[in-house]
Amino acid sequence: MAEMTLKKKRPKNLDLMTIRLPLPGILSILHRVSGAVLFLLLPILLWLFESSLTSAESFAVVKSIAAHPLVKLILLGLIWLYLHHFCAGIRYLLLDLHKGIDLESARLSSKIVFAVSIVLTLLIGVKVLW
Ligand code: HEM
Repeated sequence: MAEMTLKKKRPKNLDLMTIRLPLPGILSILHRVSGAVLFLLLPILLWLFESSLTSAESFAVVKSIAAHPLVKLILLGLIWLYLHHFCAGIRYLLLDLHKGIDLESARLSSKIVFAVSIVLTLLIGVKVLW
């Protein structure tokens, strides 16, 4: 009964514009969003990859599309999504093994995931796209 009263009194805030998530929360949402976006884009990416391998002409077409600055920016975003998902995924696997589950470590590991994925994106993005 006391539990019921406690549950009823818990404050609710469903206004997305005023919710202030801590960094691990933002990381968690981005991990889900990146997983979904990567999954949805897989057919397009595989089609582009296949087209680039079909012939020298189709490779040149894909190359010229990828040379456009806007496409480069989109590809850079995709590289970051993948690397964020990858690094956050490793963090989740460690959490599943009960490594770094206290609040301080969880906050630190979220910062590390953001830092590592951004640095890797810049290194790989610049090398591959420019
Ligand atoms: C194109 C490649 C990938 C796609 C499309 C993909 C997609 C997804 C999706 C849709 C989810 C569910 C997210 C959710 O609902 O919370 C997920 C979860 C997960 N992914 Fe990936 N993923 C990919 C690559 C990877 C890689 C390379 C790793 C390596 C670390 C990874 C690690 C994980 C983990 C650990 C989870 C579960 C996280 C949790 O416990 O909530 N994924 N992935």
